[in-house]
Amino acid sequence: MAYSGINLVFHHGSMFHHESTTSLAKPVRLCASSHLLSATCPVTSACKPLCRRCSCKTKRLVVRCCSISEFVVSSDANYGNKQVISLTPRLYDYLLKNVREPEILRQLRVETASMRGSQMQVSPDQAQLLAMLVQILGAERCIEVGVYTGYSSLAIALVLPESGRLVACERDAKSLDVAKKYYQLAGVSHKVDVKLGLAADSLESLIMNGEVGSYDFAFIDAEKRMTAKYFEMLLQLVRVGGLIVIDNVLWHGKVVDPLVSDSKTNSIRNFNQRLIGDKRVSISMVPIGDGMTICRKIQNYIS
Ligand SMILES: C[S@@+](CC[C@H](N)C(=O)[O-])C[C@H]1O[C@@H](n2cnc3c(N)ncnc32)[C@H](O)[C@@H]1O
Repeated sequence: MAYSGINLVFHHGSMFHHESTTSLAKPVRLCASSHLLSATCPVTSACKPLCRRCSCKTKRLVVRCCSISEFVVSSDANYGNKQVISLTPRLYDYLLKNVREPEILRQLRVETASMRGSQMQVSPDQAQLLAMLVQILGAERCIEVGVYTGYSSLAIALVLPESGRLVACERDAKSLDVAKKYYQLAGVSHKVDVKLGLAADSLESLIMNGEVGSYDFAFIDAEKRMTAKYFEMLLQLVRVGGLIVIDNVLWHGKVVDPLVSDSKTNSIRNFNQRLIGDKRVSISMVPIGDGMTICRKIQNYIS
């Protein structure tokens, strides 16, 4: 359906769903079929507007008081008349209600919520997408760079087959203890090969160990200034047709803020910029969570 392409990004750069964003309730004008009429061209009963979506001659204008126009990013002809929207806290709550989060992941999320750094954890909708990608690929061998307390890695391990293996790279032993507890509780410890230490060293060992081209799926969610390095190493380790997913590519909206030029933001900007021209992978930047780019290693890439 032409109109179903709704794109979701965080409202006003807000990435945490617990942050409330003030939305002024504005009356919006809808056509007889409840399509939103242009917010930029005020509709009066005199101008008899046409609805661009259904081309109905609008006989009955409904003025509804809600905040729809507050989160419309684009609805003009440049985008094929698709209405692109951003997330509001209310809409994000709705989205989360439509996520199937396994009970063990919910428990881990609740336990992590009181811990330092809990905002680093991927969101339930992100974890669900990662798990689905792993399932679509039929992945058996996965790598995660940046485990923290294990939310995303557990989501992946849960959907791996019994013979599957996830190499989980993390430098912080304390948060890994929580992750390992949950692997145990979920009965997936046998699928997870925990590598405590610097991720670049762990990836280097895998390369030196002759495991090049033997992985199906990798997820990067660690030190942002190292993303480009991890990506290069993972591109060696992942097979043709395999996926590398990178988290935080929108970096709380800072990537588009000209006033921000810290080293992490610049690293992410540079990485995103280089990726557009990287012929070794096909890419899709997805505005979920803090932004994730999905890269697929293409057929004719020779390492
Ligand atoms: C954003 S968190 C990962 C969140 C995790 N994916 C989740 O969903 O819970 C980043 C993690 O990367 C780890 N990390 C940062 N730099 C690292 C490095 N150089 N080597 C290994 N781990 C690193 C941090 O200790 C932190 O736990």
